[in-house]
Amino acid sequence: MWSLASLLLATPALALHGLKSTLLPLNQPASSSSSISPAVILASGLDPQEAQDATRVSFDSWSGPDQHTGFLSFEGQRPGSSPAPTVNSFFWYLPALNEDPDAPLLIWLQGGPGGSSLYGMFEEIGPMGIDGNMTIFERDPKFNWNQKYSLLFLDNPCGVGFSFSNEESCFVTDQTQVGNDLADALDVFYEAFPAQLSNDLYITGESYAGKYVPAFAYTVFTRDAGVPLKGISVGDGAMNPPAQFFNYGDLLYYVGMVSSSQRDVFRQYEATMQAALDAGDDEAAFEAFDEMLNGDFQTSTYYGNVTGTTNYFNFQQGDCGLAPCEPEYYADWVGTDAIREQIHVGAIPYASFNETVEVELKGDWMRGVVDMLVPLLEAPDFKVLVYSGQNDIILGPPLTEQFLDALEWDGKDLYAAADREVWKVEGGSQQDQLDEIAGYVKKVEKYNFQYSIVRGAGHMVPLDQPERAHDMITAFVDGQ
Ligand SMILES: *[C@@H]1O[C@H](CO)[C@@H](O)[C@H](O)[C@H]1NC(C)=O
Ligand SMILES: *[C@@H]1O[C@H](CO)[C@@H](O)[C@H](O)[C@H]1NC(C)=O
Ligand SMILES: *[C@@H]1O[C@H](CO)[C@@H](O)[C@H](O)[C@H]1NC(C)=O
Repeated sequence: MWSLASLLLATPALALHGLKSTLLPLNQPASSSSSISPAVILASGLDPQEAQDATRVSFDSWSGPDQHTGFLSFEGQRPGSSPAPTVNSFFWYLPALNEDPDAPLLIWLQGGPGGSSLYGMFEEIGPMGIDGNMTIFERDPKFNWNQKYSLLFLDNPCGVGFSFSNEESCFVTDQTQVGNDLADALDVFYEAFPAQLSNDLYITGESYAGKYVPAFAYTVFTRDAGVPLKGISVGDGAMNPPAQFFNYGDLLYYVGMVSSSQRDVFRQYEATMQAALDAGDDEAAFEAFDEMLNGDFQTSTYYGNVTGTTNYFNFQQGDCGLAPCEPEYYADWVGTDAIREQIHVGAIPYASFNETVEVELKGDWMRGVVDMLVPLLEAPDFKVLVYSGQNDIILGPPLTEQFLDALEWDGKDLYAAADREVWKVEGGSQQDQLDEIAGYVKKVEKYNFQYSIVRGAGHMVPLDQPERAHDMITAFVDGQ
């Protein structure tokens, strides 16, 4: 059955402190209005038709198929926490624009940790954007991912975006909890939309979701035999920080952003990180990483001091201060009373970034998900796409490649022997011949594994290079 939540008391938004070099805007306060209908919350045992009706969304200024929004509710598995917290995970489901009932379903997860997946929807891969007049505009219909795929955005983990709980113990501290929560949310989604169980499912995401995606897929893979999960896609993902978060000084030196002596300071930070990891002190390793470059809990970073910019998402783009480079109106838009009413969130506060979620995951930052990724890589017929934006710094290509090159799995030798090929987007929209070169691809056919570099993209690949990102994901999903 689905139930209606009572209105929660609004928590005033907290400004992010310190040097937060995320491109996400500040948190949105909850609506002050009490005239909004309560949030729509789906839980196991629901009636599918009722659930679909209760979550249906259609906007006057948007002609696509009806979308669905609301919360997927389940008991979060938290060792030592009794009773289990009830987690209410916000979802936004957009059926494919071509109205193909058999369209594959793609789930998208944002990173952070603490970032709302609505960023990906409105700024990266979805069909709708929000302009400065708070109205919907159509994102490029040729390159958004919704034309022939259904999209499902999940705000994750608990506390992010609209996702909420009345219990503090809802916060996650590791990727096992992340995987369980997402798989539990997916079970409720399939109860409400059972027809989707006949469509291929892909789990995609970027950045810190480089952990969530394998954790989610591995949990589904090992426990939910009936879910038609066909593959995963990880963009600029933190799959294994102990193997990836090294050699920043070299990357920066070779793109001309630091001197050789400054490169040596990066190496000193990395030696501190390594010593902490060797001593089993993951949080100390994270603190060194945070002071060197990441900056989530710092007033300054070494990277920011020497390069003059806190932007480590694309070395060709400068700093926009602490504000986003391009205004991101969607976060204001989803918080307006009119849209709250439409998207069934009641007065639940919206956090485009929830810092408490990141605080709770501090101990997880430097831990990888190799033990969850490798079984997926090795599974017959399971598809894995890993990609890097060429211009990214925080998870730039050399960082991810040093991880992939050294990764122990059955396909290691085949991967080492595979040629890297030039990938072109024929008849690309660009004038310059060179711009047909979309990037470079390395494949291990036997294991359906592909590593791609996307030229001219930074950390948020579909934002910077929508055409190339679209070509890549389409070839991946539609291919064998
Ligand atoms: C708002 O709408 C007006 C009139 O349609 C348009 O000229 C203007 O560019 C819009 N502003 C933004 C920020 O989108
Ligand atoms: C983060 O999530 C928790 C749990 O839902 C919530 O109580 C808190 O208000 C959120 N913080 C922000 C800044 O939104
Ligand atoms: C950055 O520079 C400021 C001003 O010189 C200094 O106080 C701070 O310690 C530096 N931060 C780091 C991480 O090097």
